[in-house]
Amino acid sequence: MNINLNGRVAIITGSTGGIGCAIAKEFYDSGATVVLNGRSKEKLETLAHDLVTGGTFNEPKRIKCVPLDLTADGATSELVNQTVNQFKKVDILVNNAASIKAGLIIKTDKKFLEHMMLMNYTVPYLLTREALWCMKKQKWGRIINMTSVSGQYGDRGMGVYGSSKSALTSFAKTVAAEYGRYCITANCVAPGVIDTPSTSVMKDDYKSDVIERIPVKRLGKPSEVAALIVFLASERAAYINGQEIAINGGLYR
Ligand SMILES: NC(=O)c1ccc[n+]([C@@H]2O[C@H](COP(=O)([O-])OP(=O)(O)OC[C@H]3O[C@@H](n4cnc5c(N)ncnc54)[C@H](OP(=O)(O)O)[C@@H]3O)[C@@H](O)[C@H]2O)c1
Repeated sequence: MNINLNGRVAIITGSTGGIGCAIAKEFYDSGATVVLNGRSKEKLETLAHDLVTGGTFNEPKRIKCVPLDLTADGATSELVNQTVNQFKKVDILVNNAASIKAGLIIKTDKKFLEHMMLMNYTVPYLLTREALWCMKKQKWGRIINMTSVSGQYGDRGMGVYGSSKSALTSFAKTVAAEYGRYCITANCVAPGVIDTPSTSVMKDDYKSDVIERIPVKRLGKPSEVAALIVFLASERAAYINGQEIAINGGLYR
């Protein structure tokens, strides 16, 4: 299926990460203008260069890098403001950046909980609220949150991370209910185990055990997640709203 995002402006947080890079590439190759965010200016510039040289097009004007630590005060407004100042609108927001940290409940503390909720829930909430002001005026928008299989099923060591993700799912359902009437949809994509730097740290025996539990017998590819997200961002997905779509090869526990 050919997805055309010509003329759309998309903010993609965590664009320098394993899945974020693939999303940025898929959006750029589909014709969207991409606003790339992560904390490292160098990594963002390398990604922007790779998009232009490796992509189907050669249009650096369709790429903007905004290096920001999103947990800093005012950073979420800054990201949206810079986008609107340069491109006059925000059509698509992909809340992909996250802190992926594990810890058994008795080994975690309030500081850990607060950091995880700030990065994985408060930041997407604030970005959504900012973006909705623009989307409501233009009467079109797509909000896509990256959640996780850990938010759908109890997972040892992932209690805090999983809770931050399921809070995001609940929030997206409310956004869907409140703003659907403005042709704005809000959905979540819940990956299982995807082959990225954040999962490459798994020990070999643990990884083999995980793969054994996945019916398709392999980890997912970032490009497979990106293909789903670009579809949800498109006109063709206009009737999908308030959903959490799993992409996990059939992994349930
Ligand atoms: N990989 C998986 O198997 C998997 C499974 C389920 C769900 N997910 C979800 O998919 C999304 C992407 O995962 P991933 O594996 O691609 O993660 P990743 O490789 O660890 O990338 C995380 C991204 O978030 C950015 N980031 C982290 N803290 C930030 C901050 N304070 N301010 C701004 N940016 C920040 C990082 O950029 P810098 O470090 O450059 O700042 C990086 O671009 C996440 O939401 C994750 O929860 C992943």
